[in-house]
Amino acid sequence: MQRVSVDPAKCQGHARCLAFAPDVFDFDDEGYAFVPDDRAQFEELPNPVKLAVANCPERAISVSEV
Ligand code: F3S
Repeated sequence: MQRVSVDPAKCQGHARCLAFAPDVFDFDDEGYAFVPDDRAQFEELPNPVKLAVANCPERAISVSEV
């Protein structure tokens, strides 16, 4: 399984993640991205999430094996 997460210390709210994968990423009240727990794990990372990872200007999105 792979788990996707946003590092809140790096996210600057560019919102490209939300544009690529709106069913995975969400925004908190201050405009920073996060991934709700029930959307964070995948057998295989979907392409929209891969695009979000590749296009975040702050490199704030990470994927880990779980
Ligand atoms: Fe933040 Fe990167 Fe998305 S800066 S809002 S995780 S595109």
